[in-house]
Amino acid sequence: MKVVVIQGPNLNMLGVREQQIYGPMKLEDIHRQMRLFADENKLEIEFFQSNLEGEIVDRIQECLGDADGIILNAAAYTHTSIAIRDAIAAVQLPVIEVHLSNVYQREEFRQKSLIAPVCAGVIMGFGPFSYHLAMVAMAQILNNIKMLKEQQAQQG
Ligand code: DQA
Repeated sequence: MKVVVIQGPNLNMLGVREQQIYGPMKLEDIHRQMRLFADENKLEIEFFQSNLEGEIVDRIQECLGDADGIILNAAAYTHTSIAIRDAIAAVQLPVIEVHLSNVYQREEFRQKSLIAPVCAGVIMGFGPFSYHLAMVAMAQILNNIKMLKEQQAQQG
């Protein structure tokens, strides 16, 4: 089964930007660890980062019929984007919202997620480890879906 990891604006600057909040780890190092987990759990994985809202909407739409689940850190668009929320609702795939920081410890404008209501769950506040926890959760969700499909196939 296939997981697509979508990273929003400024996450390409991890390791450089606001290290006191996001830590020293670069995005490619986070992705390397996620790929290791995916390989160990026989999951296909693809990564995408964009600073543009429309490109993120396009990538979510492309998951329809191609991917089984999405791990999404929409970054600042989390708090503003109705378009990304609508794209998630449209594809009807399990989406896990991820944040490195605990947004509830931060400015008030970050304390509202427009996408959380259409996501399977939200993981935040554990730095790069948030992505690992999201992988564990996604593996569990996809395993359940697979088992359900197998049961349905057996029942004809
Ligand atoms: C973030 C939190 C957002 O509020 C912020 O705009 C980001 C990163 C996080 O991972 O903690 O760019 O999504």
